[in-house]
Amino acid sequence: MSKAINLTMLDSGVARITIDLPGSKVNLLSASVMGELNEALDQIGQNGACKGVMLVSGKEDFGAGANVEEIQALQKQPGIKIYEATKQGKALFARLEKLNSIAVIRGLSLGGFTELALACRFRIAVNDDKTQIGVPEVQLGFIPGWGGTVRLPRLIGLTATLMPEKLPNGMKLPFGWGGLTAGSNADAKKAWRIGLVDELVDSNEANARAEAILLGAHPKRFRFGLKDRMLRGILDGTSLGRTLVSKMAYGGVMAATKGKYPAAIQALKVATLSAQGGDRDQAFEAESQAFAQLATSRVSRNLVGIFFAQTESKKMPDGVKPEIDVKVVGVLGAGVMGAGIAQLLAYKGYQVILKDVDQGALDKGMDTIRGLFAELVSRKKLSQDAANGMLAGIKATLNYADLSECDMVIEAVVEKLPVKKIVRAELEKVIKKPFIFATNTSSLSVSEMTHELSDGNGGIKAEAARHPENVVGVHYFNPVHKMPLVEIVRGATTSSATLAAAKSLALKQGKTTVTCADKPGFAVNRDLAPYMREAIVMAEEGVPIEDIEKAALDFGMKMGPFSLLDEVGLDIAGHVIHTLHGALGDRLSPPPILKTIEDLKLLGRKGKKGIYLYDEKGERRFVIEKTKGKGLLGKVMPAKKRKKYILNPDVTNAIKASVNKKTAGEIQDRLFLAMVAEGARCIEEKVVDNASQFDLAMIFGTGFPPFVGGPLRWADSMGIALVYQKLSYLAKVAGANYAPCALLEQMAESGATFYND
Ligand SMILES: NC(=O)c1ccc[n+]([C@@H]2O[C@H](COP(=O)([O-])OP(=O)(O)OC[C@H]3O[C@@H](n4cnc5c(N)ncnc54)[C@H](O)[C@@H]3O)[C@@H](O)[C@H]2O)c1
Repeated sequence: MSKAINLTMLDSGVARITIDLPGSKVNLLSASVMGELNEALDQIGQNGACKGVMLVSGKEDFGAGANVEEIQALQKQPGIKIYEATKQGKALFARLEKLNSIAVIRGLSLGGFTELALACRFRIAVNDDKTQIGVPEVQLGFIPGWGGTVRLPRLIGLTATLMPEKLPNGMKLPFGWGGLTAGSNADAKKAWRIGLVDELVDSNEANARAEAILLGAHPKRFRFGLKDRMLRGILDGTSLGRTLVSKMAYGGVMAATKGKYPAAIQALKVATLSAQGGDRDQAFEAESQAFAQLATSRVSRNLVGIFFAQTESKKMPDGVKPEIDVKVVGVLGAGVMGAGIAQLLAYKGYQVILKDVDQGALDKGMDTIRGLFAELVSRKKLSQDAANGMLAGIKATLNYADLSECDMVIEAVVEKLPVKKIVRAELEKVIKKPFIFATNTSSLSVSEMTHELSDGNGGIKAEAARHPENVVGVHYFNPVHKMPLVEIVRGATTSSATLAAAKSLALKQGKTTVTCADKPGFAVNRDLAPYMREAIVMAEEGVPIEDIEKAALDFGMKMGPFSLLDEVGLDIAGHVIHTLHGALGDRLSPPPILKTIEDLKLLGRKGKKGIYLYDEKGERRFVIEKTKGKGLLGKVMPAKKRKKYILNPDVTNAIKASVNKKTAGEIQDRLFLAMVAEGARCIEEKVVDNASQFDLAMIFGTGFPPFVGGPLRWADSMGIALVYQKLSYLAKVAGANYAPCALLEQMAESGATFYND
């Protein structure tokens, strides 16, 4: 077996350890690589003349972290096994720590690799945009377990470890980062400023400089001005300062995670223990214990499951590569979706031709695009020059002829099948080479779009697709620049190469993709519709809207169902429900209030009136409500103020039922079991490949809480037999939409689960 660790003794007496995992694009710290590192340290120990150890990577990146597959395997074992694994890693890093050592970081350094670098005496990093250093373990539900949680605050201070650079009150902490609890990376400059690396170097001089530092040269460390040094001295250098930082960071973490992600809090606690200057071994022990407890928790198993679902989602269908090299992309329709898609394409370096039928719509679309680029410039994600260059890469036009060189065209015109067939046929007249026609339809059949369109008098308005294998669905979500998911829809004739091309394009745009069959609503809208519908049905039964919103938020959703309805647009949500009702039958019948909403032409936030009321700027209207100062154990607690958002009286007055209170658990069952029932049907009908791709779509497409793992993982955690029982009961008392499908019945009988991990 070829080795991942190569040891070379340089003439200067420095030992160079090159990490280069065979057969892998990235370096991972697996048990076998750690074993090889141990052997290399043995050899170095036997060489009495070694003056120092330099750690470099043989790949583009330093390393992507521990091998998550090994962590997943350990998660199934008793906590003691995972605890022991942290101890082995710690023992190895402790050996390194005793040596005169330096890590040369280029590209990504994540998780275990950053921990490895932290155990070295020095760290230098290549000064370019590719360098990113971080400890993103909290995103997988655990903390750095090989000493990183302990060494980090001792190296860069507690403030840089826990506090962001920009505080919620707008104040800037120049030495802030907060990467341990947020799981975010530091780029080269930030890493240097906060002291995570000792020096920034040019790529081609990195190894020589590392050798020189090991032989006695002084690294060029960043130095803050006097004012910042004093502030840092107070915050990091005094017990009171560190206590303040820890308390403030705790508040920030709780606000960001609502207490649903325990890893961030544990990371904060261990880092604080370490920084408060006590016994370092005690902090190492606390880290190992916290790691073992967190890594075996359901939250971590769910988050690791999502990590693998994402990895799986990046694979090309049937291992096939795209046949068409997409460089020039046409976008039809400069409306809400077309403008967003065009902007993201230009941002990622594609040449874009944006076409509409209306000059006013085209101008408005280009204004939106300019606004999105201006936002990137103001957030310092892009220089003005780069933004201008990207903007210049978009050609706005009213003429089909301008699209003749396109390799792919994404249509985002009105949601009408005849119009979509006509634009496809028009494109086929001007683009002579094979090209991909991708539709952003949210409810129409991709397969039908390849068919001809008759004019109703025996003539043909649009020919059938010349290359039906090149027609595919790419379902983006609104707003395109924020929503992370694209559903890639395989029509009846779509080839794997076309599917791969559509997927590659979405991946290059930074999206997560889930491949869906060409079935009504695909995966996300199909499962979101029963959830939103059920929220409305409960309101019609008299359950207070505030209670339904709160129960969804408490479950972990990013926003309540009524807020989501207003964001999506009540017209669009209504359209989805009507379409799915037509396609899937009465279990998705439109609730009566929808008629009131449609009669009143309520649109949600974009129309300033929806379930809630909005001001001119589109902000939700609210009143300040004071909670009563209740007596508690003889003490009168002060009254608290909170924002109470104003519900639209047109909607609340349409509810005839008297108030019908339900517990949060009852409401959550109604909302989320509706998703489970429909989700199981999606698996039964093969809308997606498997449960993990379905859950991935729900997490990235609907804001379903990642720590729960997705509706189907949630069902597994409850036990399918219990889910079946609850659904059967709800089908009797709340509506036939809950009736469990045959797949759930079989699973309940056989004791099967959606997941095997
Ligand atoms: N808005 C959403 O939330 C959303 C989400 C996902 C998918 N979609 C889908 O995206 C598509 C567009 O939706 P939208 O919300 O951007 O609509 P929109 O009304 O904002 O924009 C449609 C644009 O298409 C233009 N147009 C109409 N006919 C055309 C033609 N023949 N050639 C070129 N342009 C033409 C219109 O002038 C308009 O500018 C629809 O299929 C919709 O179902 C919408």
